[in-house]
Amino acid sequence: MSFLPQELIRKKRDGNALTAEEIAFIVQGITTGSMADEQVGAFAMAVFFQGMSMDERIALTCGMRDSGTVLDWKPQNLGRPVVDKHSTGGVGDKVSLMLAPIVAACGAAVPMISGRGLGHTGGTLDKLESIPGYNAVPSPELFAKVTKQVGCAIIGQTSAMAPADKRLYGIRDVTATVESIPLITASILSKKLAAGLDALVMDVKFGSGSFMGALDRSRELAQSIVTVANGAGCPTRALLTDMNEVLGTTAGNAVEVVEALDYLSGTRREPRLHAVTIALAAEMLLASKLAGDLSEAEAKAEAALASGAAAEIFARMVVALGGPADLF
Ligand code: URA
Repeated sequence: MSFLPQELIRKKRDGNALTAEEIAFIVQGITTGSMADEQVGAFAMAVFFQGMSMDERIALTCGMRDSGTVLDWKPQNLGRPVVDKHSTGGVGDKVSLMLAPIVAACGAAVPMISGRGLGHTGGTLDKLESIPGYNAVPSPELFAKVTKQVGCAIIGQTSAMAPADKRLYGIRDVTATVESIPLITASILSKKLAAGLDALVMDVKFGSGSFMGALDRSRELAQSIVTVANGAGCPTRALLTDMNEVLGTTAGNAVEVVEALDYLSGTRREPRLHAVTIALAAEMLLASKLAGDLSEAEAKAEAALASGAAAEIFARMVVALGGPADLF
């Protein structure tokens, strides 16, 4: 179906809900370039002021997810649930580095596609790049192989995934439209859902070390993401965690990798960091049905650390992606 972009922008500008077909047309226009930068910017501004219903957010998220490659793990016969965690980002948040191997050691497959830092918050991809030789942009074949053989692979986003988000985000960045909960929801979820997950756990940060800041806005974002992801067919739950202090004892790429290694090997586990890591691991195990209740899930995650299984998986992942064999 064909529409005039300016008619759809006007409809949203005037506070009306767009249909799924109209949103699909806009996403196609963003992806192919048939909508000009100024039209995409005007659309983002209209959404910024008028918001979007949950149905509109689901249509936008699914359209952006499907604008590029969507991974399908079925041909891999993983024999494990595919689960991931996404954090909205915070200073010193190195949780992903420990969480992926812990949850993999408990029987899940964790194909974790991480991002770069946003504003003053750090990004997992930036941290991983401080490991000499680590290939954070492997071929899709190597990514699948490492996920299957090791249980987890933490890599960076490829430009083949959710290209509509790449263009829309770039335009939001220069049109003062980043801070829109519907647009943030679709942006985060389009990339995460393109990874073909069976379940997702969100760590939505609040406080001065996060990009959202205020608790009520973070809660609103968490509710939006959980509603939209579930509506898009991916069972999702969220925790709200406090970023008014650095998480753990370090903030900075290489020093955070060292802290993650110390954590996995048991040399040093800062209590707040440990609490957040175990809480998220437990939610991932519950979401992927690898544990029946919270206490079983927490015990499994603790056991994966105590036995050294999580540390071993992290070491194997690093080697499989080109990093040093003697990292620990
Ligand atoms: N992270 C994203 O990926 N997109 C946003 O819009 C905000 C945070």
